[in-house]
Amino acid sequence: MYNIQLFNKIAKIGTDNFDTAKYTVGEGVTAPDAIMVRSAAMHDMVFNPELKAIARAGAGVNNIPVDRCAENGIVVFNTPGANANAVKELVICGLMLASRDITDGAAWAKTLVKTEEMDVAKQVEKGKSKFAGHEIIGKKLGVIGLGAIGALVANAAHDLGMEVIGFDSYLSVDAAWKLSRKVGRAASMDEIFETCDYITVHVPSTPETRGMFGKENIAKMKDGVRILNFSRADLACAQDVKDAIASGKIARYVTDFPTEETVNVPGIIALPHLGASTEESEDNCAVMAARELIDFLECGNIRHSVNYPDAELPHTGDCRICVMHKNVPGILNSITAVISAEGINVENMVNRSKKDYAYTILEIGGELPADAAEKISGIENVIRVNIIKEFRNVLYSSCMVSAAAVFCGWMCLYFGWEGEEKVSLLILPPMISTENTGFLGKFSGNYC
Ligand SMILES: NC(=O)c1ccc[n+]([C@@H]2O[C@H](COP(=O)([O-])OP(=O)(O)OC[C@H]3O[C@@H](n4cnc5c(N)ncnc54)[C@H](O)[C@@H]3O)[C@@H](O)[C@H]2O)c1
Repeated sequence: MYNIQLFNKIAKIGTDNFDTAKYTVGEGVTAPDAIMVRSAAMHDMVFNPELKAIARAGAGVNNIPVDRCAENGIVVFNTPGANANAVKELVICGLMLASRDITDGAAWAKTLVKTEEMDVAKQVEKGKSKFAGHEIIGKKLGVIGLGAIGALVANAAHDLGMEVIGFDSYLSVDAAWKLSRKVGRAASMDEIFETCDYITVHVPSTPETRGMFGKENIAKMKDGVRILNFSRADLACAQDVKDAIASGKIARYVTDFPTEETVNVPGIIALPHLGASTEESEDNCAVMAARELIDFLECGNIRHSVNYPDAELPHTGDCRICVMHKNVPGILNSITAVISAEGINVENMVNRSKKDYAYTILEIGGELPADAAEKISGIENVIRVNIIKEFRNVLYSSCMVSAAAVFCGWMCLYFGWEGEEKVSLLILPPMISTENTGFLGKFSGNYC
């Protein structure tokens, strides 16, 4: 059994992913193998020795002592992209807010009362002209950062009729795949500053990105530029933005991260960090966080960790030896030497590193004697060793679900069911993993 302790309220759709036969899940759980958290402050917490992982249902991990966790072999996960659609929708709203005087107009409409001379409808028609604005169609939008959110924003803005160019210093292959080919590539951030009517930023706050909307870059922008910052407050220098609004250089600044300096400023529309605040987004984060923990605890796979490298291994052997260690030379030799000394063959392995830390998964036939596991733990610079022995059951259940899906597919063929689905059923089973197990189960449930 695994113990999962919940901090904060985690959406049930997420915790429902834990099989009750294998997991005890709840706020009152003690000695957890893993923790699921949203915003609870964890910096001062003392962690129990059994704790192997913390999954943050959200993107930011400021509330988690990430480095201390890495030193203790505790893998910290987040859920990048799970809230991307929610943020994208608000950014699209932000484009409209930056273009039309919606907020002032709505505030004015609230004040209207019928008078003896004029009813409300007449006052509206008389006064509306001061809230006139612009349309976004045909305008040029520059998207800085084309990750999960930026790519969705770029594609959606293009679909709304904008000319879109994007810039990303470290664009990943995955992110590039998600980008519409209609989105142009800016050669530099300056190209965005110099040519765009609207600029939206979707990068993390780093020493490189902090203050990117400052005096110097603002000076390069077109007069009347409209800037959207739904990423972090410190990407902009508030005083420089305010000065540029006062001079008319910036027409509108829309941000999801208000500060003392940016609330109640004409020309600045400040939203109270609403980007990811949708029920759907919270559900997506909870589901993703739960699946990351399950894949790690049951299979040793790491996906979307902020302090250890991502590493995955397809299932082939009987037992997995998962080793968190420092990223220093010679460790792999030391680990495999212990295993070889037991006369055991390593059937499959993966080793990945991330800055000071590395992670190795070794898969063997049979079991690793307990004293060998202790020897591996004792190797200098090894931080933690997790042995996954019930792994064979995961493989077995994967095979069973896959076999059931194949059987259903053949039955559909036999009874003359025509359609694309049966072809999919026949080609999916070779992709066996725990994640696919759920998928195949659902798939066969849906289609058979
Ligand atoms: N408003 C909200 O509620 C809300 C919610 C989630 C995330 N966010 C913010 O949005 C940001 C983006 O989120 P995401 O999910 O798209 O993250 P992501 O990691 O998928 O994408 C970030 C992108 O920024 C790029 N990048 C990093 N440094 C850069 C630089 N110096 N110049 C150009 N590109 C750079 C990266 O290559 C990456 O493609 C987050 O860092 C967070 O600050 C806000």
